[in-house]
Amino acid sequence: MYKILTLNNISPLGLQRLPRDKYEIGSEISQPDGVLLRSFKMHDMDIPTSVKAIGRAGAGVNNIPVDEMTKRGVPVFNAPGANANAVKELVLAGLLMASRNIHGAMKFAAGIQGDDAAVSVAVEAGKKNFVGSELPSKTLGVIGLGAIGVRVANAALSLGMKVVGYDPLISVQSAWQLSSGVEKAVSLDSLFSQCDAITVHVPLIDATRGIVNADRLKMMPKGGIIVNLARGGICDDKAVLASLDSGHTAAYVIDFPTEALMKHAKVISFPHLGASTNEAEENCAVMVADSVSGFLQDGT
Ligand code: MLT
Repeated sequence: MYKILTLNNISPLGLQRLPRDKYEIGSEISQPDGVLLRSFKMHDMDIPTSVKAIGRAGAGVNNIPVDEMTKRGVPVFNAPGANANAVKELVLAGLLMASRNIHGAMKFAAGIQGDDAAVSVAVEAGKKNFVGSELPSKTLGVIGLGAIGVRVANAALSLGMKVVGYDPLISVQSAWQLSSGVEKAVSLDSLFSQCDAITVHVPLIDATRGIVNADRLKMMPKGGIIVNLARGGICDDKAVLASLDSGHTAAYVIDFPTEALMKHAKVISFPHLGASTNEAEENCAVMVADSVSGFLQDGT
C-alpha cells in the first residue's frame, strides 16, 4: 500500500488515478510515500524522510525546496502545459480589461445611484472617461515562449495584434515554429522599445527577477500595459507603480496581489486565478498523479 499526502485540494479526477486497493490518500497521512500539492509552501514544513516523490499540480515549483529534494534523490514532478490554456485565457481577459478600461468602468457603474433616469444621466456623463483602444493597432511583447507564452502569442495574433517574442532562458526553436507570425526580438531592451503591451511567461529565478524594471518601462511607448500572471518578483513592482503614477504606464495586470498593488486604481489584480478552471485543475491533477504513481510503482 502506498501512502499519498495531499497538501491542497487536488481534483478528484486526479485522485481517481490512484486505485484505493493500492493507495491510501489523505491530508493527515503520516510517513507518506508521495505528496500531491498545489500552492502549499513546502519550505514551511519538515518533509518526512519517507517521501519518495512529490507532484505539483501546476507549472511552477517555487513552493517546493527542489534543491533539498534533489539532494535526497526525491523527484519533483510538475504539470507543464496542463493549465496553459487557462492561463492564456486570463491573460487575454486582463489585456482586454486594461485596453477597454473595464476595471474602472465596472467600478464606476457599480457606484451609480438613483433611479433609471439618474442612471442614464450618470452613464452619459461618465462614459467619456472610459474610452478604450483596440488590440489590432497594438504590439504585444511575449517574454517566455514555453507552453503558455506560445498560446498567448498565437491568440494575440488571431486577435490581429502584432506579436514580438523573446525567451531569456533558452533558445526555443520549437517555440518559434509553433508560433509562426511572431517576430523574434534580438534582446529584452529591443522588445520593450517595440511593444505597447508586455506579458511575462517565465519562472521566477535569479535570471528573471526584476526583468521588467524602471529602465525598460521607460523604453515602452506611453500608455503601455504590463501583464504578469507568471510570478510576483519578475516585475519590479516599485518601478511599475512609479511608472503608473507618472502616467507613463497605463495598467498593470497581476495574479499575485500585494497590499501596495491591489488598491491602486490602475492595477487589475486577480487572486492567483490563472490556473483556476475546472479543466486545468483536472489536467494538472491527472498528470501529476500519473507521474507520482508511475515513479512509486515502476520507478519511471
Ligand atoms: C502554476 O504554477 O501553474 C500555478 O501556480 C498553478 C496554481 O494556480 O495552482
